[in-house]
Amino acid sequence: MQSEEIRKRFLEFFKKRGHSVIPSASLVPENDPTVLFNTAGMQPLVPYLQGREHPEGRRLVNVQKCLRTVDIEDIGDATHATFFEMLGNWSLGDYFKAEAIAWSYELLTDKKEGFGLDPSRLYVTVYAGDGKVAKDEEAARLWQEVGVAKNRIYYLGADANWWPNVKGQDTWTGPTGPSSEMFYDLTPNGLGDMSHEEFLRADKEQKIVEIWNDVFMTYQKKEGVVTGELTQKNVDTGSGLERMAMVLQNKNNIFDTDLMMPLMLKIKEIAGNKYEEKPGRIVVDHIKASIFMISDGVLPSNTDRGYVLRKLLRRAKYYFNSLGGENHHLGLFVECVTSIYKDIYTELENKKIEISEIILKEETSFVSNLSFGQKFLDKIITTEKHISGENAFLLFSTYGYPFELIVDVARENDIEIDTQDFFKRKKVHQELSKAGAVKKFSGGLADTSNQSLKYHTATHLLHQALRDVLGDSIEQKGSNITPERLRFDFSYSQKLSEEEKQKVESIVNDKIKSNLPVQKIVLPKAQAEQINARQLFVEKYGNTVSIYFIGSSLEEAYSKEFCGGPHVKQTGELGLFKITKEEAVASGIRRIKAVLI
Ligand code: SER
Repeated sequence: MQSEEIRKRFLEFFKKRGHSVIPSASLVPENDPTVLFNTAGMQPLVPYLQGREHPEGRRLVNVQKCLRTVDIEDIGDATHATFFEMLGNWSLGDYFKAEAIAWSYELLTDKKEGFGLDPSRLYVTVYAGDGKVAKDEEAARLWQEVGVAKNRIYYLGADANWWPNVKGQDTWTGPTGPSSEMFYDLTPNGLGDMSHEEFLRADKEQKIVEIWNDVFMTYQKKEGVVTGELTQKNVDTGSGLERMAMVLQNKNNIFDTDLMMPLMLKIKEIAGNKYEEKPGRIVVDHIKASIFMISDGVLPSNTDRGYVLRKLLRRAKYYFNSLGGENHHLGLFVECVTSIYKDIYTELENKKIEISEIILKEETSFVSNLSFGQKFLDKIITTEKHISGENAFLLFSTYGYPFELIVDVARENDIEIDTQDFFKRKKVHQELSKAGAVKKFSGGLADTSNQSLKYHTATHLLHQALRDVLGDSIEQKGSNITPERLRFDFSYSQKLSEEEKQKVESIVNDKIKSNLPVQKIVLPKAQAEQINARQLFVEKYGNTVSIYFIGSSLEEAYSKEFCGGPHVKQTGELGLFKITKEEAVASGIRRIKAVLI
């Protein structure tokens, strides 16, 4: 069954059972600062799982684009992918376990409307319980009622049957609950009945594969701790399309499905007899994820989403070269990805050229470093037999190697790497460059006297004017001043219209004409917080803070910001304010450049 048919059957099945089909959201979450990417179909639905009314009703179904980087170590095995699509159906306080389980079974096994899978190859797991939440005997009973044998139902703990099951420190804030997972046997002759231990081993050896997860979402977590029950009982299910395709196309890995095949053929063609399975799969996985990220507005950078993209592209390039791709452009995969998805995600076709250009630019900037880095690495490997923290940091800072890549190289050559020392150096470097930036700023101001002061004050006016025109969700994301201009980055998802830009300019110019005083007040932090002055989200403030306000009194001030200064004394000194450029720098982030004339 081709992936297009799988998507269609899934949606149709639930549509027929009263669900509204909703579109896939972008990979980049809207208004959710807790995650960098949508990692599950439920992520864009969090407010609705917590009780908000959804315009499409209480039964929803969709296919959601997802991106997960926690499994980066597993990429190259049979079943993990960085980018994947999740088939999901939801009950927002409507039906619960009985219907969810019955429908899951029916869709998986029914030949006419469903996927027609062989029931004798199915296994399920349910939550084993802990001190607070009981063993899910109800789910086990419901599975038996639909036809799953008792000895094919396994009780597992929170590391498997709780969603989200967090590896490492749990910081999840949002809806959560016990889950029940379905597994399918991939072996040629079938494994039949298995003991608990045999089941776990078969999973580890990828002889069986998890194909669907039903979460019974009933609790609320705050920073990893259950804080109470949700106002409604929800169902949240998720099934990876790539895995379903692998099962339904009789493959033993996702890379042989129609969702990956064109990319695999390409890499094999380029690599020829240099082809190796794991690096080949990594290239394909990473480039595909990168293409989807760029199509949703992410650009390579050194922070957050942009850095995830940069890491994926650089790691892809490294392995691509190792397979003989040195003289090829990674962008050649854009065509393959588009050919697979053009009818489903039209943004790919529309942005094809732009995506290739962004990849090419990133590739070019990394490529020369890569070969210098490689020479350097070869020397270390032959002479030192281990990668010291110092050398790892040099690779990272000078040659642009993402840390994951350095780890890969160490692993491939079977040598140790001093991770601890690397991170120590990285931290020191970050602190130094932060201090350097502060120094440069005040130093720059001293040197260039008044002009920078003017731009600094203009930046405060611009920040407030943007909030006046575009709303209070605007947050400062970055600011940079030279004697010639100001540059201001802020969160906002759309291009500003001509009218909006003019409004912003005219507000700033009004405030300049009013010749308002710019004053400073120093307060204990707790008190400062009471007066609703703008703070920078990323900044750590001390116990005492200074606030600059523009206006005759603190109460009537037009702008109030936590800020170290310095500023001009009166806004009248600024001259005429003019926006020279307004553009996107990353998804959800706009940049304004402006001058004073
Ligand atoms: N949220 C669950 C998962 O990601 C089910 O959709 O597996």
